[in-house]
Amino acid sequence: MNDNRSSFTGKIGFVLAAAGSAVGLGNIWRFPYLAAQYGGGIFLLTYLILSVTFGFALMAGEIALGRKTGLSAIGAFRALNKKYAFIGYLASIVPMIILPYYSVIGGWVIKYLIAFVSGDAAMAAHSGYFDGFITQTAEPLIWFCVFIGITALIVMLGVEKGIEKVSKWMMPILVGLTLIIAIYVACMPGAKAGISYYLKPDFSHFSVTTVLAAMGQLFYSMSLAMGIMITYGSYMKKDVGIESSVHQIEIFDTGIAFLAGMMVIPAVFAFSGGDPDALGKGPGLMFVTLPKVFASMKGGVYLGIAFFLLVFLAALTSSISLMETVVSIFQDKLKWGRRKTCLLVLGGALLVGSLSSMGYGLLDGVKIIGMPFLDFFDFISNSVIMPIVAFLTCIFIGYIIKPKALIEEVELSGKFRAKALFTVMIKYIAPVCILLILGFSVLEGLGVIKI
Ligand code: PHE
Repeated sequence: MNDNRSSFTGKIGFVLAAAGSAVGLGNIWRFPYLAAQYGGGIFLLTYLILSVTFGFALMAGEIALGRKTGLSAIGAFRALNKKYAFIGYLASIVPMIILPYYSVIGGWVIKYLIAFVSGDAAMAAHSGYFDGFITQTAEPLIWFCVFIGITALIVMLGVEKGIEKVSKWMMPILVGLTLIIAIYVACMPGAKAGISYYLKPDFSHFSVTTVLAAMGQLFYSMSLAMGIMITYGSYMKKDVGIESSVHQIEIFDTGIAFLAGMMVIPAVFAFSGGDPDALGKGPGLMFVTLPKVFASMKGGVYLGIAFFLLVFLAALTSSISLMETVVSIFQDKLKWGRRKTCLLVLGGALLVGSLSSMGYGLLDGVKIIGMPFLDFFDFISNSVIMPIVAFLTCIFIGYIIKPKALIEEVELSGKFRAKALFTVMIKYIAPVCILLILGFSVLEGLGVIKI
């Protein structure tokens, strides 16, 4: 079944490509602000537990599904059971929702990179700089167009291979840089309180929303519940170990998210004394805090340039995998050529992304269930559709095709050591937890209960 698909050359190729998709803005921009907002240590702990249980089982399951069938999401579900192709369709909606607003944030990163390169670093460190920027209409739109334009160009020319090479050296440098910044931040006066807020779980901050946010973040960060890992699995050779690959991708992904938190959260404390308002800054947190760190450092401008350049590249490898997925879904359906399909996807993403981009400025008055466009798209994909897809995937693997079918697939390349964990997670724990959490959050959203 697998013969016509190009495949990754080996394990390193596979792990790096999957990590290139997984490591992105989710780790560096999204994780720290969620951790700050949802109680610090307790969020981190919840996230880590979910990562080695849920995250592991789902990622192994998705990759095995892809490798077994040699097909992408829609085809994979259909091939194993016709009635369940709808899960593949549902999963396919997610990258379509994420790509446009992901590119808006990618645009913000370019703006900061340019600001640092052109000598505006000191200005970027001023409070009010970020808000002043995103509340404009034209500028954020322009940078958004630049980011998605570059993504589209790479996908259209099909030169992802070159990009893969870039991610080979990008990852280690990114880790090194975040480490340096995190250590510098840890030495700042006032940072200690931030470190303990981030590392010490305080159970009084725990709530169902903590778990929901952590779960949504986990899916997002590991590129799960949207068919991407199924597609990656379909390119994987049969003799490459699935289990150890998943562990490596997880270590990369969670490690970088953890370090990003170590860099941003203590810095918030150092600059604002842990003021809850500063911690709840949401999507702007990284952009507001890090320029202040760089401004306080000798040679910080250069570090800032290097940092935003790497974040840009990490975001680019992720947005490429998002767009690639969307393009291939439409290509399969419409039977159009690659270029034409790319242009269609680009057009759609430009339209939808513009809403997100203008949601803090011109369209400030327009809110969907109380949220600006970008926050709404983020919420609907991460907290609603992805948990539903993850739930259905568990049911599909656990009860329709049965875990054994995938365990056999994993065992084609060696022993599956965590197969008991895999089975129990997929059949019982994950679906029950996802359902409970979703139920609670819907009830809370409707105002029926207060948690
Ligand atoms: N996982 C990526 C990140 O953390 C985001 C992403 C989601 C990329 C889905 C591709 C697909 O930034």
